[in-house]
Order: sequence, then C-alpha cells, then structure tokens
Amino acid sequence: IPAGTDLLEEINRLRKEKNAIILAHYYQTPDLQDIADFVGDSLELSKKAAETDADVIAFCGVKFMAETAKILSPEKIVVLPDMEAGCSLEDSCPPDKFKAFRERHPDHIALTYINCSTEVKALSDIIVTSSSAETILSQIPEDQKIIFGPDRHLGGYLSRKFNREMLLWPGVCIVHEAFSEKELLKLKQQHPDAPIAAHPECPPHIIDHADFVGSTSGILNFAKTFEGDTLIVATEPHIIHQMEKALPEKTFIGAPGADGNCACNICPYMALNTMEKLYLCLRDLEPRIEIEEQLRLDAKKSLDRMLEMAA
Ligand code: 13P
Ligand code: SF4
Repeated sequence: IPAGTDLLEEINRLRKEKNAIILAHYYQTPDLQDIADFVGDSLELSKKAAETDADVIAFCGVKFMAETAKILSPEKIVVLPDMEAGCSLEDSCPPDKFKAFRERHPDHIALTYINCSTEVKALSDIIVTSSSAETILSQIPEDQKIIFGPDRHLGGYLSRKFNREMLLWPGVCIVHEAFSEKELLKLKQQHPDAPIAAHPECPPHIIDHADFVGSTSGILNFAKTFEGDTLIVATEPHIIHQMEKALPEKTFIGAPGADGNCACNICPYMALNTMEKLYLCLRDLEPRIEIEEQLRLDAKKSLDRMLEMAA
C-alpha cells in the first residue's frame, strides 16, 4: 500500500467502482463495523448476502461466514480480507470424522451450527445460528433423534432449555470458553445491579449467572432495552462498540477472562481482518471464496432449510 494512502477514501472509491457491499460481523474492530454497509449476526449476514444485488461481497467476518455468502449467492464475487480467518469450532469438526459420527448414528438427523465448514454443512440436515436455533428446534418432532455439532455449549444450552437429549459433538469456541466464573463473580460484586448478558457459546458455569442468553443481535437488543445503567457483556467485546454508539450514557463492561480483563476474549480469527486488508481485497478482488458446484449445492440444502424454518 503506497505511503499516504487514505484508506477510508480508497475503500469508498473502490466499493462504488466495483459495486461492492461490505458486510461485517459485530466481532470486528470498530473501524470495520463503521465502514460496513451492514453489521449483523450470523443469520442476518446470511440473509443480506442472499438478497443483495451487489456484484461483490466483501465479508468482514470469518471464513465460514464468507463461504455461506458464496453458497447463497454463487454468481457474486465474495472476498474475505484474510483467508486465515477461521474458527475453532470449524477446526474441531473435520468432515471425515463428522461423516463417520453420522454413520454410527443413522437414525439421528444432524442439526448443525453454522460455525462449520462447507463440507460439514453438506453432511448436515439443518443449519442453525444462535438466533434461529430455538425456533428451529421447536419445529422438530419430539421423537426425532438429533446430533448437534460442533458447539457442545450451544448444544448443551438448547438441550437443557428444551429438556431434550441430543448427541453433542465436542467442539468449543475458544473465545467464549475463556471467560472466568471466579472473575465474573468478582465483577458482579462490584456492580451488583448490573445484569449479565451472555452468548450461548459460553460454558454452563457462565450461562448459569446470566440474566439474558442470546445471539449477538439478541444481546444487542437486550442492551438497548434493559433498565439500569451498567451491563456486563459475556461475548466477544467488540460488540460493545455498537452498544456505546446506541447508548452513550450507559456503561458496558466486557466479562473477564482469568487475568481479570476482557482482552483475552478477543476473537483471534476475526482480528486478522484489518482496514488495510479490506482495501487490498476490494482492490484486487482476492482472496476470493470458491466452492466446487456439487459441494455448494449439497451445503445449500441444509442452509435453505434454516432460512425456511427460521423465517
Ligand atoms: P452470532 O452473531 O450469530 O450470535 O454468532 C456469534 C459467533 O460466534 C460468530 O462466530
Ligand atoms: Fe469462532 Fe468463537 Fe471466533 Fe466466533 S468468536 S469466530 S465461534 S472462535
């Protein structure tokens, strides 16, 4: 990048020139959230990607999100600022092992969290996001046996809430796994009136203390409506940017990790995307998401079921 390049100006010029839409997840840094055309949770971002008439989607998020955009909008160029932006949940679930797991349980359907590879989506029956999982699960007949992967904490949360047994794949999100119950309780002692909002990717010892459990959008809505002046937020702390923008008079505190602050709960994969890399991917239309057509069609079936059932 030539010295003196005004990144904001260049990104704005390129997005017009290439008819590009910039989508960003709430876990991206504030500069990326602020330059995006749309910021949302996983379900909202998938819907946006499916309905946009832009020629290019620049996806500020992680790879499985950009792949979802490509599966739903194959005629579009989908670029991801950093192709290394993965997810610990995706890594925990290699397609060959998932396939073998399914084959050991032929009478189960696979209800699968969107945080997985395209190959795992193709091996699944219905995809869910954290904001659509409850609506979708409530439509599945009581006697239908279910495999839920790859997030055992989201699966465990749903299983407890619905009093429904599910076979859980043992994956975790390294970000939500890092919250410390001991530090959270210390923080709560300092702010006894502050409610705690938590993402269902958190382990049960964190969820048990939460006043509200929901997806990133759900947590954001809760932040906009709770009574009181301080909220403790147990999810990736970059979402606090949107809360502070909407409610500058209130205080939002990121739930702590073992070291007593929320910096260890920054998603290292999301953090790979930067303004510089966004500029470069718009300029070069690389790195680009490409998916083999049969695989795309196979993965699209389970995603389409999600979009139908979540509607
Ligand atoms: P949602 O935005 O759908 O709540 O997902 C959170 C997440 O961890 C994305 O990686
Ligand atoms: Fe994956 Fe967790 Fe990062 Fe979300 S926050 S992308 S689930 S590692």
